[in-house]
Amino acid sequence: MAQDGQTFKAGLEDVVANTSEICFVDGKEGRLIYRGYDIHDLVKGGSTFEEVIYLLWHGELPTASQLAELTQSIATQRALAPEVLQFLRSVRKDANAMEVLRTAVSVAGIYDPDNGDESMEANVRKATRLVAQVPTIVTTFERLRQGLEPVTPDPSLGMAASFFYLLNGEKPDDFVERAFNIALILHADHELNASTFSARVTAATLSDIYSAITSAVGTLKGPLHGGANEQVMRMLLEIGDVSKAEAFIDQALAEKRKIMGFGHRVYRTEDPRATHLRQLSREAGERAGETKWFEMSQIIERIVKEKKGLNPNVDFYSASLYYKIGLPVHLFTPVFASSRISGWTAHVLEQYRNNRLIRPRAEYVGPTNRTYVPLPERN
Ligand code: COA
Repeated sequence: MAQDGQTFKAGLEDVVANTSEICFVDGKEGRLIYRGYDIHDLVKGGSTFEEVIYLLWHGELPTASQLAELTQSIATQRALAPEVLQFLRSVRKDANAMEVLRTAVSVAGIYDPDNGDESMEANVRKATRLVAQVPTIVTTFERLRQGLEPVTPDPSLGMAASFFYLLNGEKPDDFVERAFNIALILHADHELNASTFSARVTAATLSDIYSAITSAVGTLKGPLHGGANEQVMRMLLEIGDVSKAEAFIDQALAEKRKIMGFGHRVYRTEDPRATHLRQLSREAGERAGETKWFEMSQIIERIVKEKKGLNPNVDFYSASLYYKIGLPVHLFTPVFASSRISGWTAHVLEQYRNNRLIRPRAEYVGPTNRTYVPLPERN
């Protein structure tokens, strides 16, 4: 039963559900634009992730002093509240890292010093803490899981270097820092992707920003969204050898299995993020003297393109890149979250600035006009 003049679109495909000034995804041309700036220009121009966070939040590239202020503000708020740390210490060590992140974000909200203050100023402060602390949650749980003590954050480090420092207790080399900084920029925002939509739906009820981000983390976890990068690497590991890639993919396609890291709801051509990640994956492999994951990925890309006409998305080459720069596979999706927290918070702040409850309709396809039968008479 459709509402007057309304038609149902499965998966809300191509439905315009919001206006936004933050991000434009041009699916036909394969372009990704943050606040009017092409991601290719941000990457080529040598932008830092902090610069992109400022851009997403405020709509303008920062001046040197604005950037220094934001960088400092994030860098000095990385330490977790004792209650969050206590949760990370107490949770089972084999827990899924995204589930731990989801719950830790929720705990962090309860203990945020601005809890209960819903002013815009307080929400910007909370957004800064979220951007600063999501990577700390991810890396701290990973260390505790391995039986290691957490590392004290080093405020002299930028976002990209800090992630590796908090994970390994050592600063990364220049290549890893540069590659990871680019990966963080590329994952920062993507318009109304599923997790950002979740965040906006929650924020639109005027619930708090931590509730909105908790919704987003839960949504990103799914294998059709952020969980795909981890699944890509598991597939590459299962294939194991370059010589086996073609037969593996042929069989998977014959069995009508989805190949993780391919296809996209919006892009009808190359995902512009994949262009950079492919190059970085190649460089990471060459640098480490082990190009097999990259070679395997190239074979898979060729076959899936030939047989299904599908292009790799952001998750495909990020998998082999992350693997070669030493990130554990089960952290791939939390790494995605450590970047996307910038876009989520930008969207939540935008939602608060111009809010209307998001409440669509469903097309009712169930039975109608049934006669109630009292319990004793049912069989
Ligand atoms: N491997 C094989 N076939 C795929 C595919 C993939 N990765 N992605 C899409 N297809 C096929 C579907 O089987 C379907 O074919 P059919 O019409 O013959 O049934 C067709 O392409 C449309 O796919 P559909 O899943 O309906 O598209 P969607 O717009 O709903 O989904 C994705 C988009 C991203 C969820 C989908 O491409 C996918 O599941 N990709 C793999 C997961 C992934 O990489 N997600 C990360 C996204 S950034």
